[in-house]
Amino acid sequence: MKNNLSNIKKAVKYLNKNQCIGIPTETVYGLAANAYSSIATDKIFKIKKRSKKNPLIVHYYNLQLLKNDCEINDLFLKLYKKYSPGPISYILKLKKSSLISKNVTNKKKTLAVRFPKHSLTRNLLKKLKYPLAAPSANISTKISPVSKKDVKDEFGSKIKLVLDGGQSKIGVESTIINLVNKPQVLRLGGIPKYEIKKYLKTNLSYVTKSKIKSPGQGKTHYSPYIKLRLNIKTPENNEAFILIKKRKEFNANYFYLSKNNNLKEAAKNLYKTLRLIKKKKFKCIAVQKIPNVGFGEVINDRLKRASYFK
Ligand code: TXA
Ligand code: MG
Repeated sequence: MKNNLSNIKKAVKYLNKNQCIGIPTETVYGLAANAYSSIATDKIFKIKKRSKKNPLIVHYYNLQLLKNDCEINDLFLKLYKKYSPGPISYILKLKKSSLISKNVTNKKKTLAVRFPKHSLTRNLLKKLKYPLAAPSANISTKISPVSKKDVKDEFGSKIKLVLDGGQSKIGVESTIINLVNKPQVLRLGGIPKYEIKKYLKTNLSYVTKSKIKSPGQGKTHYSPYIKLRLNIKTPENNEAFILIKKRKEFNANYFYLSKNNNLKEAAKNLYKTLRLIKKKKFKCIAVQKIPNVGFGEVINDRLKRASYFK
């Protein structure tokens, strides 16, 4: 705990000096900087090699602070009460008076916002006078990081501090929901679509083509940069084989996402497993068919985008 406190102090110091740092969240680790500063947010795009056309998610401590930057509506409040802090991001209308850097929004009139649940990052946010822009802490189109070590592997000495919050509990990015007009899911993520739909008692479309490119709406994404084949029953001899349920027989090429067929646990282990396979220098990955329900939907979404890599 003492260690955390001194690290948070260090983090505040870096952020106040317009530096980027790595932060843990329950979904994936983020590359964070002062969302009100163009100098700081510029650095995010450079370090991530990300197109400036792709807007950033901004992380807040609470509702009070959000009100400085966004118009809020009833539907948002209903979702906020149930799911925040947690693995969900909302697209809201930006207030004219907002201080959010134009870098963050790509000059758009909307803002993606999120209230992360991880206690270390909440403690950090509480100490700052500004919200944090924080995309996933990976080079654009690659796999998102779920530990401090993953972030270090991505960026090396390009960032001076990564707060260590252990392995991310959810392990896939937040669900993004557009609340500017009628609610639409823009990215599948940490809260399954059917749950939100059930709670809102409304039809909830999933839009894969929007004017604003949302994450994973491009081509190759979430990719280990290894060829990946889906819905495979029997892998080739030299392939890494990803399965949901642990099997009794031992095979060095087999990688299990869950001990007991649990899709939530499988989602949590997905990026970690892809990184491990990459490290072991496999040239090709085969993936067993994964049921497209609950967390299976988000796993299939990420794997499909990873499979665009040829
Ligand atoms: O779980 C998460 O959401 C993680 C953690 C670190 O919070 N962050 C994350 O950020 O996944 P990122 O940048 O990798 O994905 C956020 C995506 C962007 O790619 C962008 O396309 C989309 O959110 N986005 C941002 N602002 C938007 C807006 N105004 N309208 C539509 N999509 C937006
Ligand atoms: Mg990302």
